[in-house]
Amino acid sequence: MNILIIGAGGFIGSHLCEEILNSRKDWNISALDISSAKIDHLLPSKNLNFYKTDILDDYGQTEEHIKNCDVVFPLAAIASPLVYVQDPLRVFQLDFEANLRIVKSAVKYEKRVVFPSTSEVYGMCGDEEFEEDNSNCVTGPICKQRWIYSCSKQMLDRVIYAYGIRDGLRYTLFRPFNWIGPRLDDIKNENNGSSRVVTQFLSNILHGKNINLVDGGSQIRCFTYISDGIDALIKIIENAAADRQIFNVGNPHNQCSIRELAQKILSLASEYDVFRENARTVKIVNTDSSEYYGKSYQDVSRRVPSVRRAEELLGWKPVVGMDDLLIKTINFYAEILKKDS
Ligand code: UGA
Repeated sequence: MNILIIGAGGFIGSHLCEEILNSRKDWNISALDISSAKIDHLLPSKNLNFYKTDILDDYGQTEEHIKNCDVVFPLAAIASPLVYVQDPLRVFQLDFEANLRIVKSAVKYEKRVVFPSTSEVYGMCGDEEFEEDNSNCVTGPICKQRWIYSCSKQMLDRVIYAYGIRDGLRYTLFRPFNWIGPRLDDIKNENNGSSRVVTQFLSNILHGKNINLVDGGSQIRCFTYISDGIDALIKIIENAAADRQIFNVGNPHNQCSIRELAQKILSLASEYDVFRENARTVKIVNTDSSEYYGKSYQDVSRRVPSVRRAEELLGWKPVVGMDDLLIKTINFYAEILKKDS
């Protein structure tokens, strides 16, 4: 099996490469990215070939790789809410335009595509649990630029789905729900909004800055450990039942409000030398979203997946609980801080 991972140097890509190399010895990976920093430790493997390339500049090379693979994962994307509101056109250019080109090549060369949709396509949907084929995709007015990511991904979902019906494209769409783990974001970056929430809070503690609860912190997310997410991706690759399906990949048992999350992280961090002192002094404060992200931000107040389809068709279930995933993630960041000091 020849797997092409475009954006292999990102959070999901790096873990997917690692798992394939560890457990599927006869698979080969072509790994494309602008940087190999997160997969440098894997480069000695003979089953992984890294190609430094920018899909925005040099599409020729990317297209050659698509011709030669069995399945393509187009994982290169911007997935940070602050960028959605500060540079929405960059999000559109990479997440939509560049990925559309990849999808069209997959159609042309009749390749299987496993595409990262997102939990964000459901937007502000009011359903108790979001279901792939029943829940509405609810976004806000155009002036709320946060939704450009959701809309870019939704449009690609629709395009891929239509190619499946018209041209027989073999595809699977997976929707990560707040995947968390090692290598997610750089916690040494001090800027507010530079990371997803778990790594943002760790970064705040590291730098002795107060933890901000955007609009009070009552919003709910279901956090999913990266190994559970990757397990679903491997099952998708290996299972014909995944063809032309959409899967939520999240952990409905790990529902947590952002306020609760802040409290948990502060308490866990105080067990580690590198965080202890600041964890005792840092405060949890309320912040207005328009101050934190700007006026074109709008939030999702509750986001819980139904994972029944992944259970039924793939035999997949998330197993890592909330406290465990936080401990595993904090362990990783504490280790690299210790090494660097
Ligand atoms: C994320 C991102 O869009 C993507 O990474 C991804 O597609 C998707 O959701 C997902 O992983 O499912 P969101 O959950 O809003 O969106 O991203 P975070 O930045 O992790 O924020 C989570 C919540 O914490 C938001 O309500 C945000 O306002 C809040 N937050 C964030 C704070 O209260 N304080 C902070 O300092 C940072």
